[in-house]
Amino acid sequence: MKTTIAKIGQFVEQEVTIGAWLAGKRSSGKIAFLQLRDGTGFIQGVVVKADVEEEMFQQAKNLTQESSLYVTGVVRSDDRAPSGYELTVTKIEVLHEAKDYPITPKEHGTEFLMDHRHLWLRSKRQHAVMKIRNEIIRSTYNFFHENGFVKIDPPILTGSAPEGTSELFATKYFDEDAYLSQSGQLYMEAAAMAMGRVFSFGPTFRAEKSKTRRHLIEFWMIEPEMAFVEFHESLEIQEQYVSYVVQSVLKSCQLELKTLGRDLSKLEAIKAPFPRITYDEAITFLHEKGFDDIKWGDDFGSPHETAIAEHYEKPVFITHYPTSLKPFYMQPDPNRDDVVLCADLIAPEGYGEIIGGSERIHDYHLLERNLKEHNLSLDAYQWYLDLCKYGSVPHSGFGLGLERTVAWISGVEHVRETIPFPRLLNRLYP
Ligand code: 4AD
Ligand code: MG
Repeated sequence: MKTTIAKIGQFVEQEVTIGAWLAGKRSSGKIAFLQLRDGTGFIQGVVVKADVEEEMFQQAKNLTQESSLYVTGVVRSDDRAPSGYELTVTKIEVLHEAKDYPITPKEHGTEFLMDHRHLWLRSKRQHAVMKIRNEIIRSTYNFFHENGFVKIDPPILTGSAPEGTSELFATKYFDEDAYLSQSGQLYMEAAAMAMGRVFSFGPTFRAEKSKTRRHLIEFWMIEPEMAFVEFHESLEIQEQYVSYVVQSVLKSCQLELKTLGRDLSKLEAIKAPFPRITYDEAITFLHEKGFDDIKWGDDFGSPHETAIAEHYEKPVFITHYPTSLKPFYMQPDPNRDDVVLCADLIAPEGYGEIIGGSERIHDYHLLERNLKEHNLSLDAYQWYLDLCKYGSVPHSGFGLGLERTVAWISGVEHVRETIPFPRLLNRLYP
């Protein structure tokens, strides 16, 4: 019977065949342990010299790392094995013999591993991170579909720059100037006026000269947008969404979280509601913690975000930032015009901002004034202004950065491990 490692538990004490790669090997004179992987999981194959033909035992001992194989064997239940099963190997067919695989069990430096990202993805740790990323995406679609959102795909090539003009990737669109999308938000607002509640999931691009463990040049964003939803209702949806995703990963990725050595109790605590503090309160808090340098009107750097996050077990919303720090489309606080109805969600354990969101301006004149103040072309944004002309309604939305969320939930230090092929300041290869 041909099967996969993920399904092998259905065949205990039966003989099965799997297509697999040899991830690693240990052998002595009497026994060979083969670490096998097939993409669906990892399992140990055992070849006992006394139980097989001499030729097969020698074949097993001589297998090279990352050779591709068909392995036949009898499935055994084994409580000591991480997957719960082991394979007593009876036959090995080598499909392709790999020679001198560059990633060996010894420690390699980060740059070496990044240069070999196309192969590094095969490692148990990277496999676990990708499975968690996959579960976050799967549960994102589930959450929004269960809550009546429609998936909408904004364009990647655009003529506008919602998040500021300094970090744009410019390109030519025949004779016109175009940019790679920094955010699909403005298009999602148009879509919300057609469909009510929408969400997108796609790549976004920032030509940011930041070289930190939280910044990618190309990253993936989930951007919901909701008509007739005001600021506080949006925060409730955000905390429910993030809780849902964390609890889904806890349920579906036990093995992967264990592989990564993630502290599960920290994730179990992630349940709505999340704490909220205003920007003003955050400034006071930081002064109490000895951050004397920061003053009202300054943006928070990662040491500030981390200090605030460390005070809580759950993600924390920082709300009502100064207008001067935020983009042109955010709705002013009705009680104060120096702050806007926005919130950043800061993940625990120092992973930084995972969501940025706000209520949006829905008054034509205010929006027009802001566009002018930000030196943005009214022509390029005429379609966006149109949304305020024809049945404008209060609406809110937010963007969750997938890779930072994967980093936090997986407990990996750097976002470069959370996307299959990271684009970093000085890396376009592989
Ligand atoms: O806060 P940002 O810039 O917000 C927006 O783009 C809004 N238009 C979203 C919206 O309201 N629809 O980005 C949103 C999130 C951040 O909180 C962060 O998680 C992630 O995107 N992000 C990055 N992730 C990795 N690398 C970068 N360079 C990132 N820049 C932002
Ligand atoms: Mg932000």
